[in-house]
Amino acid sequence: MMNKSALGITGTEAKVGLKTLHVLIGYGFCINLLLRISWGLIGPKHPKLSLKRTSLSELSNYQTRISKGHKPQYLGHTPLGRVSVMLMFILLGVIMITGLVRAGTDIYYPPFGSTVQAFIAEHGELPSKIKPYNDTYVDPSAKLQLGPFKSLMGNVHRYSVYLLMFILIMHIWAVVKTEVTLHPGLISAMVSGKKIIEGKAEDE
Ligand code: HEM
Repeated sequence: MMNKSALGITGTEAKVGLKTLHVLIGYGFCINLLLRISWGLIGPKHPKLSLKRTSLSELSNYQTRISKGHKPQYLGHTPLGRVSVMLMFILLGVIMITGLVRAGTDIYYPPFGSTVQAFIAEHGELPSKIKPYNDTYVDPSAKLQLGPFKSLMGNVHRYSVYLLMFILIMHIWAVVKTEVTLHPGLISAMVSGKKIIEGKAEDE
């Protein structure tokens, strides 16, 4: 999306085509995220999403034990892992919402596209006649009014994506470091769904 010109994607039709492709893939991302959040709300204990289970004292206790050379084992996420997963979910939620709003304001795609078309349509014109990046049938003052909101959503979308990339790199680094230093079978558990741990799990 950010390297359109470098990829030779110029011209309105090609740009709208790329955005449409991004939005269609984005719908897949939304369904995936909503399914995982639902599973986090109604599913079994370990995939459950809950910050209530992570107190500050539990976090510092975990860090202290690690620094003293202990290797606390968890069937689910470690306290630190839980915080990072919650942060990622919040960020993914922001990306999803701003992406959907941007899909509506930019290329008039569902779920908000028809509302946006109705808002910017010239008086007496059929909103569905408005096409992306074409000002025919558009009321200029309504379009101007929409501008700041549209760019705010675009900026939040873009910076959330940057932040997500940063958190993803940190997360992968933390997972590899935990795997190497504490040997909890973290990576194999992501594939098999089963964690092989030594001794008793803290969250059994
Ligand atoms: C993790 C998922 C996502 C990533 C990594 C991502 C990434 C990006 C990036 C890098 C841009 C370009 C921003 C810019 O040039 O200013 C963008 C724009 C856009 N995204 Fe997403 N996006 C995601 C999810 C979504 C979703 C779920 C939707 C909606 C279904 C969506 C809709 C859009 C639209 C319409 C634009 C065009 C905005 C514009 O050209 O200014 N995105 N996205």
